[in-house]
Amino acid sequence: MMKRKIILTIFITLLFTTCNIVYNVSASYHLRQLCVDTNGDTSTVCDSKYDMNETNVKNRMVYQHLGNTGLMVSRLSYGAWITFGKQINVDQAYEIMKFCIERGVNFFDNAEAYANGIAETMMGNALQKIFQTMPDVTREDLVITTKIFFGVKRPLYYPNRVGLSRKHIIEGLKQSLKRMQLDFVDVVFAHRFDHHTPMEEIVRSFNHVINQGLAHYWCTSEWSAANIEQAYGVAKRLNLIPPACEQPQYNLLHRERFEIEYKDLYIKYGLGTTIWSALASGVLTGKYNNGIPENSRLGLSSLSSFKQQFLSGKRHGPWEDIIKRVLLLQAMADSIGCTLPQLSIAWTLKNPHVSTVIMGGTKIHQLNDNLGSLLCAEKLTAELMDEIERIMETKPDVPRDWTMYTRL
Ligand SMILES: NC(=O)c1ccc[n+]([C@@H]2O[C@H](COP(=O)([O-])OP(=O)(O)OC[C@H]3O[C@@H](n4cnc5c(N)ncnc54)[C@H](OP(=O)(O)O)[C@@H]3O)[C@@H](O)[C@H]2O)c1
Repeated sequence: MMKRKIILTIFITLLFTTCNIVYNVSASYHLRQLCVDTNGDTSTVCDSKYDMNETNVKNRMVYQHLGNTGLMVSRLSYGAWITFGKQINVDQAYEIMKFCIERGVNFFDNAEAYANGIAETMMGNALQKIFQTMPDVTREDLVITTKIFFGVKRPLYYPNRVGLSRKHIIEGLKQSLKRMQLDFVDVVFAHRFDHHTPMEEIVRSFNHVINQGLAHYWCTSEWSAANIEQAYGVAKRLNLIPPACEQPQYNLLHRERFEIEYKDLYIKYGLGTTIWSALASGVLTGKYNNGIPENSRLGLSSLSSFKQQFLSGKRHGPWEDIIKRVLLLQAMADSIGCTLPQLSIAWTLKNPHVSTVIMGGTKIHQLNDNLGSLLCAEKLTAELMDEIERIMETKPDVPRDWTMYTRL
């Protein structure tokens, strides 16, 4: 009797493990990557990102499909939030974007709401200069995005200038394109979920702008898994194009939604992600360990309430606690020859569901530093990843998995 029980237990364990392996392998089919030598013109298809040694990775940008689409995005990209219009001017924007493009970055992120449309205007001007001064770079080489939802000036009395109505999706996107001096964006995002517009209208409207040639793909940003799933359902029922990706916050201090809530979406739909604030607005660079430097994001007088969210613990938990952990992380980064910004970004790159990490940066040297995260990611062994977990203690609880219970 006892013997039969042991054999049954071994059998169930083996079955469970096999099912999980098959499940996970089938989920990663869309993760083909392309490596391009940013100094030359050769390109290679990487069999797997994990087989790249140090020499291979050096000077290389890695490209990955955006979810289940054919679109390839650089794993490191660049975005305009706060920086454009608040911290840097158009000449600096041009220099930073040029620097990024020269190093293989092809994805540039924006939104109608960033600096009330000024960020789009600046990116548009910087792009014009890039096309004039970098003859090898064409519109085809770049993946330009914008986001619709918050409107440009958040006016109280003009309810149709915000949200995801058919009217605002079409009119808002046309205005963004005008500011950016573009005929189309590659990806248009629904910057937030609109609880007041029917899902069918939202999905139809994003399909309309795609059919009109104003965008190639549409994605969501900070939508709940339930809302994303609903959008897929509507798209399937109406034979329309579903969202290709999500743009969520993901970093060592903010993980639950990305790792737990969206987990099934990666498997079921091959959902891609373009993650934001990998450095938690700079906190994970160590720059705030000894106070708030004046010439930094949290030092901006116009962002005092934003700073307060960090200092009060509202954003990521008790501030002193975070600084203690960041100091430990710094020691670990030093010990493996990475800088702390590189280590923090590299940790996000280790997650295969991250299609691209949207970097922020006000200075070229920051971007130069951050681009080294591709190489740093190759140094992060399973043991070091465990060590990071021990230092940060931010791993979200995994809900009990009952999948196999009903299969037996
Ligand atoms: N969908 C959304 O709701 C949403 C929300 C937020 C952001 N985003 C997108 O994601 C992009 C990136 O987000 P983020 O700007 O918050 O990213 P982040 O990487 O967390 O923060 C970027 C800021 O950290 C500082 N920094 C970066 N690299 C550094 C380095 N090596 N050393 C020291 N300081 C460094 C710079 O600020 P200072 O120099 O000013 O200190 C930089 O502007 C945005 O531009 C935007 O496109 C999307």
